[in-house]
Order: sequence, then C-alpha cells, then structure tokens
Amino acid sequence: MRPKQAPLYDPEYFRSLGHEIIDILADHLKDSLETKRPQVLPWRPPDQQMQHWKEIDHTDMEPKALFQEILSHSISIHDPRYIGHQVGMPAPTSLLFDLLSSYLNNGMAVYEMGMAANCMERLIIETLCSRFGLPTETAGGVLTSGGTLANLTAMLSARKAMASRWQGKRPAVMVSEEAHYCIERAAMTMGWAQEDVIKVPTDERFSMQTQQLEPLYQEALGRGQQVIAVIGCACSTSTGSYDDLATIGEFCNKHKIWFHVDGAHGAAAIFSPTYAHLLEGIAKADSIVLDFHKLLMAPALATALLYRKNDTSFQTFQQQSAYLLDLQQDWYNSGKRTFECTKYMMCAGIYGFVKAHGWESFGENVTTLFQHAKAFATQITQHPHMKLATPVQSNIICFRYEEEGLSTEETNQQNAFIRQAILENGVSYIVQTTLRNKLFLRLAVMNPFTNETHIEALCKDIEAYALQWSSTHASHAETSAS
Ligand SMILES: Cc1ncc(COP(=O)(O)O)c(C=O)c1O
Repeated sequence: MRPKQAPLYDPEYFRSLGHEIIDILADHLKDSLETKRPQVLPWRPPDQQMQHWKEIDHTDMEPKALFQEILSHSISIHDPRYIGHQVGMPAPTSLLFDLLSSYLNNGMAVYEMGMAANCMERLIIETLCSRFGLPTETAGGVLTSGGTLANLTAMLSARKAMASRWQGKRPAVMVSEEAHYCIERAAMTMGWAQEDVIKVPTDERFSMQTQQLEPLYQEALGRGQQVIAVIGCACSTSTGSYDDLATIGEFCNKHKIWFHVDGAHGAAAIFSPTYAHLLEGIAKADSIVLDFHKLLMAPALATALLYRKNDTSFQTFQQQSAYLLDLQQDWYNSGKRTFECTKYMMCAGIYGFVKAHGWESFGENVTTLFQHAKAFATQITQHPHMKLATPVQSNIICFRYEEEGLSTEETNQQNAFIRQAILENGVSYIVQTTLRNKLFLRLAVMNPFTNETHIEALCKDIEAYALQWSSTHASHAETSAS
C-alpha cells in the first residue's frame, strides 16, 4: 500500500507495516553483527550524497523501501567494524522501549504528562545516586538530552549555587586541557569569556596534572576571577584518560567550590567491578554527568545529571510559568529542572533495559569493551611502525603510523591520508584526533563483537595506505628534485 493512500491513523496499517519494519531491522542487525555487508560505511562525499537524495524522489516509495534506502545510505553502528565515535550500539530492548516513548509522546514536564515516565526516571536516578555513593538523603537528579546539555545544566547549577562566592568577581571554572569542547561551549553560552575556562595541563597519560590546581587557582584570584568549580574528566574524549577524581574532590572541598565530573563517556565504569576503581573519589562530586547512549546501550540521547544536593537542581532554572509550573520543589514535575519543556521519555529505554537484563549487564558491557581495547592495543603495537599515544585506560585507543625519517608534519599528513582512505573505503570506520600537534588514529571500541580478526584487517589496511602515501610522497619528492 502506498503511504499516500494509507489512512493516517489506521491501527491495522500500523500493525502490518510495523511487523515488516521490525523484520527489516532484525535482518539488518543480523547482517551487521555477521559483517555480511561489504562496508560498514557506504561512503559518498556530501555533495554526491545530496545529489542522490535530490535525484531519487522518494515520494511514491513504499515506507519499507524507504526504510531500506535510509539504512543503505547510513553508517552501521551495529557492525563490529564500526570502531569510531563514542556512540554506542543500541540494544534491541532499549530501542523497542524507545518506540513506546515515541508512541506515547508523553512530554514529562508536568506530572500528568508523564506519570509513569516521572516515576521511572526517579527510580533510575535513585539507583544511580546510590551506585556513585552520593548521600541518599540529599542526592537526586534528572535525565536530559545529551552530555552537552547536561554539562551546561550542571555549570548553570554551580554558578547559581556558588553565587555568594563570585559576586563582585568574574566566575571561572578549571578543567583539564583534554576536556570535551562542550565545556567551553557551555561557558560561552553562559556569557563567559574563553579565559574563564582555565585549562589545567595534562601529564603523559593525558590526565589532569592536579598539582597545577593550586597555583592556577591562586593566579586566577590574583586576576580578579573566582574559580567556582573544577571539572574532572571521567574520562577524556580523545584518549579515554581518567582524571584523579579523589584529588580534585579534596581540592574542591578545601576551597569550598563545586566539584563536577564529566563522566558522559566513562562514568559508566561504575557498573564494572573490574574498572569502577577508575572513578575513585567520584562520591565527593557535587554533580555528575553520565550518558546512557555511549557505553550503556541506549539509543541517543539519554543522559543522567546527578546532584549531591537535589535542591540545587531546582534552583538552576527558576522561571515561573503560570500555566505549567510553580516554585515548589516537586520531583514529579520534571520540567522545572531541565532545559527541555517537552522532554522525550528517554527513561523508558533505560528502565525497560534494566528490568529485562539487569544493571549488571551495563557492567559486563563496560568490562568487555575495556578489556577488548587493551588487547587490541597490544595487537596493534605488534605491527611495526604503529605506536600508541598513551597506554589504554578505557575503550579508547589512540595510535599512529610512524615511519622512520619523516618529520612530524609528514607523519601527520600520512596518518590523515590513512584515515581519509579508510573513511572512503568504508570497510571499517575509525576517526582521528590531534594530541600535542600530532595527528593520531583513534578507535572507540563500542561493539563487544569487534574481534582480533577485524583489528587485523584494519591494521593491514593501515599498512597498505601508509605505503601508498609513502610511494606518492616519494614520487612527489622525485618530481620536485628532477
Ligand atoms: C567527555 C565527554 N563529555 C561530553 C560529551 C558530549 O556528550 P553528548 O554527545 O551526549 O552531547 C562527550 C561526547 O563525546 C564526551 O566524550
């Protein structure tokens, strides 16, 4: 049946199309996991891709055919050769509960528009607070749309809570130079200057040099700034390095300033008995951000923002809205504490998942991915010329191809060439990052089905592209010499 002829809200149409679409997705999942398709990424340059979407008029296409069309022009996150960005592969249970969220469309801001939702969210938050060791009498939090928004919300909360400290001065925060760019973006959004985000240098493992906190704090005071918070990375985006949260927590405690942990990626380690130690000291945090759509198998976006003192979350946004919200601190009217007014019921995907599989399966996923990353790093460095940026701490591996006799700039060019060739070839998907002016290839092991065979194939491709670059480079050199 053509979409135009289909009645808009016909339950039988919904039922039959729904069954067909789930079949398509199940087949896609199977083919992805078994690497049946030649590529994880059917690469086309943006303009060519746009040309295709303009030329193929999808107006009369059956919805199932359009589904296939979208799938076949998208990167496949469930394919084990996807080892790129930190977007996790959604588990079927989570994504089916997400479908329920889309169907119900309960906006959640006020209680009656999300009765089940506000309760599920509160239960998730309570479990998280207790896992992180925040005091049960005072702790609380919210779910919100992504780590970026959650970090901004936490920084607004810190500014509000610390108002008596910074009034008459310029508020500032201190954060590792390796922090995600969203911290600086949040500061800009708050109307701060770039200098109000004080970057703390990192050590050889790209973790914050905590001994620099005191001198930088004193220098800031001298300039008329008041540091209101230190933000710890757990872990950093580029290299997956964990900051020493225990020391940062002590520092914040000493100066009576806010301690925020950006654990968007790596705070998930709390569920892993093997790796929870990386978060030692997190229980001292005033606020913590944790993304479920990274290591915890939920579809994007689903982020928890936890507070040591739940009260502070109510003070962040105090707009009065006569028809919606009053100033009472009621947990069940969630719109008082988040940017979103109409908030997606992201809790259903998480709640459904933990009821079906248990909180422990989060830990198992984290343990597996971290262990795989360590093993893959060893495997990679067994290849000549492949050097790690730093030992692996989480599921992120940074390495590069280093050929003797090349300058740093040439090595950067060679690695950029390798990455671009891998992208365009589409058989595997990896990304790149720059650390201290050196360009590195970067893998985020997000898929527990990625194995040594996939990594070996990737290494072979890297070697082949490196040689290709060298031969072009050599012939350039010869051409210019002649
Ligand atoms: C450490 C860290 N913080 C924040 C973010 C931003 O999170 P989101 O993509 O959910 O907005 C990321 C994303 O990669 C991250 O790695």
